[in-house]
Amino acid sequence: MSRRKKIYEGKAKILYEGPEPGTLVQYFKDDATAFNAAKKDVIEGKGVLNNRLSEHFMKGLTAIGVPNHFIKRLNMREQLIHKVDIIPLEVIVRNVAAGSLSKMLGIEEGTPLPRPIVEFCYKDDSLGDPLVSEEHILAFQWASQQDLDDMVSMALRVNDFMSGLMFGVGIQLVDFKIEIGRQFDGDFSRLILADEISPDSCRLWDVETGRKLDKDVFRRDLGDLADAYTEVADRLGLMPKNPRSDGPKLVN
Ligand code: TMP
Ligand code: ASP
Repeated sequence: MSRRKKIYEGKAKILYEGPEPGTLVQYFKDDATAFNAAKKDVIEGKGVLNNRLSEHFMKGLTAIGVPNHFIKRLNMREQLIHKVDIIPLEVIVRNVAAGSLSKMLGIEEGTPLPRPIVEFCYKDDSLGDPLVSEEHILAFQWASQQDLDDMVSMALRVNDFMSGLMFGVGIQLVDFKIEIGRQFDGDFSRLILADEISPDSCRLWDVETGRKLDKDVFRRDLGDLADAYTEVADRLGLMPKNPRSDGPKLVN
């Protein structure tokens, strides 16, 4: 691993050159940051959980025809992905008011929204990823009108898929962030879902109790982050079973 060429290191992941042209290896770190890295910690096991969870979500999205960068999981912390040029926008979809929307508009957290709201933030840590409008995006040519239309429809499909998947295991998808990239194939290019989908980039609340099962546990000091992510993975059936607890059970 040490001899591979590092292409990019972000706050939670590292990208290495892949084995074939057009591929990269995405490595999930245990580092957790919040508030533009003002708060930092290392959460043992987080990278392993997010690698597995993102694999699960991306495979499901592939199955319903949402193109994405995932090729295959290589090991506990790494996955092989298609290389893309990331559009410098964070695409956020919200179903329920929380976080920065609640703060910006004074809407109580937990208030259901009348319809899913899609927002764009300009990806620039030094500016704190500011919220931008379609006017900004078009004027500064971060994306074309066609790209914007494609991004909104992809984000809404991801929202429907993820909301249903989570609801099936008693979790409400409050909001999430995705990143989208341009994949080149000769003279052609298309937009595909990239980065990751994990509890780092979603708000996930237990349907019964409202308990938070996402990175807000870390941002707001609400408990053990790895426990929360493990619970999400467990509910989705992704945790290895204890062999001794398997097998037939005695029924009284
Ligand atoms: P926000 O309410 O803080 O704007 O966050 C909206 C959603 O986006 C939430 O699910 C967390 C996610 N998110 C990220 O993945 N990365 C970020 O840098 C931020 C600010 C939010
Ligand atoms: N923006 C990320 C988050 O809060 C991490 C960070 O800002 O350091 O989810």
